[in-house]
Formats: sequence, C-alpha cells, structure tokens
Amino acid sequence: MTMKAIAYKKHGGREHLKMMDWPEPKIKRGHVKIQVHSIGLNPLDYRMRRGEMGPLTLFGPCMTGSDFSGTIIEVGQGVQNFSVGDEIMGKRMWGTAAERLVVAANKVTRIPSNLDLATAATIPLVALTAYQMVHEQAKVQTGQHVIVNGASGGVGTYAAQLAKHAGATVTAVTSYRNMDWMSELGADHTIDYTKDNCCTGEATYDAFLDCRSNLSLNKVKGVLRPKGVYVTLEPLPSLVKDPFVNLLSSKKSRVVLLQNKQNQLLEIKRLIEAGVLKTFVHAQLPAKEIGQAFEILESKRTRGKLSVKILDELG
Ligand SMILES: NC(=O)c1ccc[n+]([C@@H]2O[C@H](COP(=O)([O-])OP(=O)(O)OC[C@H]3O[C@@H](n4cnc5c(N)ncnc54)[C@H](OP(=O)(O)O)[C@@H]3O)[C@@H](O)[C@H]2O)c1
Repeated sequence: MTMKAIAYKKHGGREHLKMMDWPEPKIKRGHVKIQVHSIGLNPLDYRMRRGEMGPLTLFGPCMTGSDFSGTIIEVGQGVQNFSVGDEIMGKRMWGTAAERLVVAANKVTRIPSNLDLATAATIPLVALTAYQMVHEQAKVQTGQHVIVNGASGGVGTYAAQLAKHAGATVTAVTSYRNMDWMSELGADHTIDYTKDNCCTGEATYDAFLDCRSNLSLNKVKGVLRPKGVYVTLEPLPSLVKDPFVNLLSSKKSRVVLLQNKQNQLLEIKRLIEAGVLKTFVHAQLPAKEIGQAFEILESKRTRGKLSVKILDELG
C-alpha cells in the first residue's frame, strides 16, 4: 500500500520537491499512527534538501519536514497514554510531509489545549531547541541579563520568552523590521543589528544566546561577563574548537545538539497553556504552496514560524 508524501530524489533547490507515492507506514509496538494535519518548516529541512548536512544527506529519496501535528488513528501495543482521536505534536528525523506517520509514543505530546493543529505543528523543534539553550547550556538564572540574537526567528522567539520566564532581563537583537513586537516576547531592551553592533557597547551579559548562530565566543566576549556563556546552534566549528577555547577562558562557548525529550515538550505545552509562552506564526500555507513557504523561510526573514497544511492537500 502507498500514500502521498512530499519528497525529493536529488539534493538541491526547491524545484526538487515533488509529490510522490510513499510506502504506507505500519504500526509498531510503542508507537502511534497519525493522520498528519500540518507540518512546521525549519532551516534543517532546506539544509537537508540542499545536501548540506554531511552524512545525514547521503541517502535518498528523502521526505521533507521535521515537525508535525496530527490525529491518532491507530495505537500500537504497549502504548497506554494515548488513544485514537488524540491530537498530538512532535518532531522526527527523516520527514513528516506525508499523509500518515508512525511515531514513537514516548517522543510526542498532545497539542496545547489553547492552540489548533496548524499552529501546534510549528512548536516542537524550535521550542525544544530554545529550552535546551536556556536551561541546559546557558542555565539561565533569576537576575541575570541575557541577550538573544535572532530573537524574531523560530528559535529566538521561544529563547527570549523562556529566558524572561526564568527571571532574566532580556535584550532582543533583531532588525528594524521586527523591533515593534519584541516587547511581546518580554524583551526589556532591543538592538537593531542593522544600526548597532550587539558585540560591542556598554551593556554586558551573563548569557549570549546566538539563535542566528552567525557569531562566536571570540566575537562576543567583550560583552560577556566573567563566567558568561555563549551558546550557538551551529555545531561546526564549535564542537571542534570549544574544548580548547573553553580551557583558556573563564567565558565558555556551548553548542545545542537538539535532543527529542518528551518531558521538555510536556513542559513547553504546559507553559503555552498557562499563557507564559506565545507561538508566533508568520504564515500558514497549503501543501501545494510548499515551495513558496520554503522561499520565505530561505530568505531568513521569517517572523516566528511557517506552517504547511497536509490534511486533504496531498490528493
Ligand atoms: N543545533 C541545533 O540543534 C539546531 C536546532 C534548531 C535550529 N538550528 C539552527 O538555528 C538557526 C536558526 O533557526 P530558526 O528556525 O530560528 O531560523 P529562522 O526562523 O529562519 O530565523 C529567521 C530570523 O532570523 C533573523 N535574522 C536574519 N539575519 C539576522 C542577523 N544577521 N542577525 C540577527 N537576526 C537575524 C530574521 O530577522 P530580521 O528579518 O529582522 O533580520 C528572522 O526573524 C538555523 O541556522 C538552524 O539551522 C540548530
């Protein structure tokens, strides 16, 4: 049996994204099968498509997408906490843009009760990344001053809100295009990077969360306090250089290598339901416009997230 999926046979541009027949996934122990409603797009998706992710992009054809929301249509043996009809969200390697997916029940959560499926699809990957940035790498504490570079993007919107919720004073770095809504993230200060350099100036920070990941410890250390932490999302060259750099400096460089942790996704859901975290959706598009959605994402101008509807769109 087959279903429809959006995938590519060759790495490269958006023109390689095609609707394809794809093997229908079979239910497994500890898993649930869902009817996909929407997927959220991430830079990881276009970097995979372009073949920029090293060994991860050796094989094909590849289904696009890494975030999803949908409704459970079958429950595997051993799954106790989910039932048919539950609306869930999650992230997954190896593609989400298909009519149906089989996903591990211990990696997903129900969607926040105050959001719809289209919005929920945009949450998992970026919110988990921001959570691990703020709580595992920077270990942000009450009273600290945190700067978030790229605060208007997918990861940045959650990183700023989570740092604020942890009790920090937050400086958001974005362009003039987004200065007007940074207060919605709880930002106390804003820097327009097209006018001012966030790596120089009078203010100093306990943590520098580089969600845009175009800087380095070396570039920001003049504004980091003693024992301050710089956190990037770009593994290379950080993973190679950081052990040496960190030996020689009281200021540390850390990198997030995202892990799919259900307990953190549950906490994110709780914070959204409590009104602590807001989800910012730049646009919702139908599957037939996925090329256009990627064009927006690849321009690096997205405000928050992009959601693509899959349900009833792949026929
Ligand atoms: N290591 C990991 O596990 C991991 C996990 C998730 C993401 N990532 C990586 O993290 C990066 C960010 O992901 P994302 O989803 O947040 O991206 P995104 O949503 O595409 O980011 C778009 C935002 O970046 C801002 N921006 C563009 N150029 C900027 C600059 N020079 N300085 C400051 N802000 C700038 C834009 O604001 P303006 O329009 O105002 O410029 C826009 O709002 C990507 O490279 C992604 O691959 C890594």
